[in-house]
Amino acid sequence: MATERTLILFKPDAVQRRLCGRLLSRIEERGFKIIGLKMLNVTTELAREHYAEHVKKPFYPLLEEFITAAPVVALVVEGPEAIRVVRDMMGSTNGRDAAPGTIRGDYGVSRQMNLIHGSDGPEAAQREISIYFRDEEICAYEPTLGHWVCADDER
Ligand code: RTP
Ligand code: MG
Repeated sequence: MATERTLILFKPDAVQRRLCGRLLSRIEERGFKIIGLKMLNVTTELAREHYAEHVKKPFYPLLEEFITAAPVVALVVEGPEAIRVVRDMMGSTNGRDAAPGTIRGDYGVSRQMNLIHGSDGPEAAQREISIYFRDEEICAYEPTLGHWVCADDER
């Protein structure tokens, strides 16, 4: 078990549909620590860098159009096994397949407009955090309630 950092985006549909507060609450209420938070417009260059693995895929032009169409909220979140647990909270890529109780399963019915991005592994997390945040924009702190969120041997 390890404390991990992951990069989360609330995608343009979440911003436009005014769901950011609900999504942020879910992450906080689960026990994760927010250590970076900003709103920004994703440029086409940034989209290509972030989604480099998808650039040559047939759906990429639509993905780029979507992710650059309105602002996103970017977060760095820290906690035990944060990468996997956040992915589990997100649910399947296609909202129509996502299980009820997941973010995509509770708020969406779209494959493309699926509200949230989360890093899918440690390498991706490191790469994506450095794309969206400078070191000095990440605020490490010891939360007062930290010792009530999980045991010392789970950190
Ligand atoms: P994400 O990277 O955004 O966290 O989503 P994911 O891992 O669940 O899905 P991924 O396969 O990495 O796809 C990235 C995003 O591209 C859009 N998409 N469109 N039209 C299509 O076939 C299609 N497939 C994927 C979605 O917005 C997806 O989240
Ligand atoms: Mg992905």
